[in-house]
Amino acid sequence: MCDDELIPPSADLTEEQWLRADPALFDGPVGERVRAMRAPRRRAVLGGAVAGAAALTVLSGAGRTPAAAAARSGRFPLPTAPNRNGEYAVLLTGDAGTGEEAQHAVAAAAREVCRAEGVGLAVGLGDNIYENGPESADDSEFRTKFEEPNTGLDMPWLMVLGNHDCSGLIPGSGGDPSRGDREVAYAKGSRRWHMPSRYYDVALPAAGEGGPLVEFFAIDTNPVSSYVAQLDPHYRWNGPYMREQRAWLDGALKASRARWKVVLGHHPYLNNGKHGSAGSYDGFTIGDYTSGVHLKELYEEVVCGRADLILSGHDHTLQMLEPTSRTGGTRQIVCGAAGKAGDGRAHYGHPASWQNFADHGFMVLKASDRAMTVDAYTVDVPTRTARLAHSVRTSSPLGAAASTAAPGASSASAGRR
Ligand SMILES: [Fe+2]
Repeated sequence: MCDDELIPPSADLTEEQWLRADPALFDGPVGERVRAMRAPRRRAVLGGAVAGAAALTVLSGAGRTPAAAAARSGRFPLPTAPNRNGEYAVLLTGDAGTGEEAQHAVAAAAREVCRAEGVGLAVGLGDNIYENGPESADDSEFRTKFEEPNTGLDMPWLMVLGNHDCSGLIPGSGGDPSRGDREVAYAKGSRRWHMPSRYYDVALPAAGEGGPLVEFFAIDTNPVSSYVAQLDPHYRWNGPYMREQRAWLDGALKASRARWKVVLGHHPYLNNGKHGSAGSYDGFTIGDYTSGVHLKELYEEVVCGRADLILSGHDHTLQMLEPTSRTGGTRQIVCGAAGKAGDGRAHYGHPASWQNFADHGFMVLKASDRAMTVDAYTVDVPTRTARLAHSVRTSSPLGAAASTAAPGASSASAGRR
């Protein structure tokens, strides 16, 4: 069970206001950390926009020939063709980065499934480094909370930024998006960690002629769903970063010729777990940040009806929600139980094909020219074993979806920003 997310007393406080409003927080370990880091932290905030812009500029245009680049760097290459089953099989994990036994157990269980299913690509849906995100681009936590647990899962991992990766003064606040640049920088030297920029897309080619079979659009949801108000103008909800990201996502989805389109974003659009859905996260319905109202707008105005799937974490649960008219036929899946587990119960009632609020687990997405299937696995941590709990299958893009209970040169146009 996990109930460790710090929730502010009011919407859209600055972190300083939150600390003043919650003396117990300031007197405890969080306050100790704040006092220890306060001076360097101020410099980090002031440098955020410049650092972010520089990183994005340097990375612009990277990855035009990803297979060649991977060969030069020793990185695990993106798959260039469907596997022996005629499909791309992709491991889905979220909220993994604790470095604790549960993360190791889920990864160990996933290794067995990945071997059997011919998995050649993985996804990390954010909160990659608990609790505060990395302190630098070569923080040892990249080793203890990512590389070591995932040993043997030797494939590229499409990583997205979560609120813990963008912590400011308070763990998980999302109040310092510039911290995410450390994860972009780390990707340059990692064989697994694929994050050519803070948001990016990766398209995997079909076996024959024609456009890509499946395309992933990794987005940064943090500036519009942080627990606190953004202080850096670059990352404000209506600032240049979010305007540019929205324009990029809109254009990329419009331009995509992929049969299957999958959006990867840490914070969910719809969610039956305790954090709730975009626009009313954690019970907040006012303001520009804590409620996620502007992420709701982004999902509804740009993603719904265009992407087949939204894959998210943040809630430490496993949910396969049903596509509806509200979502324009897009299916929301929550897969955030690779390191922590939920509180055991549903908090909301969005239509679901299957959902689990108590177990650790992961999922496997399989995309072929005939169908896209997502298999959900729960993991028994003590024995490090996985159990196939449910499958959903979509046979036509944004079309009718069937749900069944279970028995017992790739083109990565990354670095557009
Ligand atoms: Fe999160």
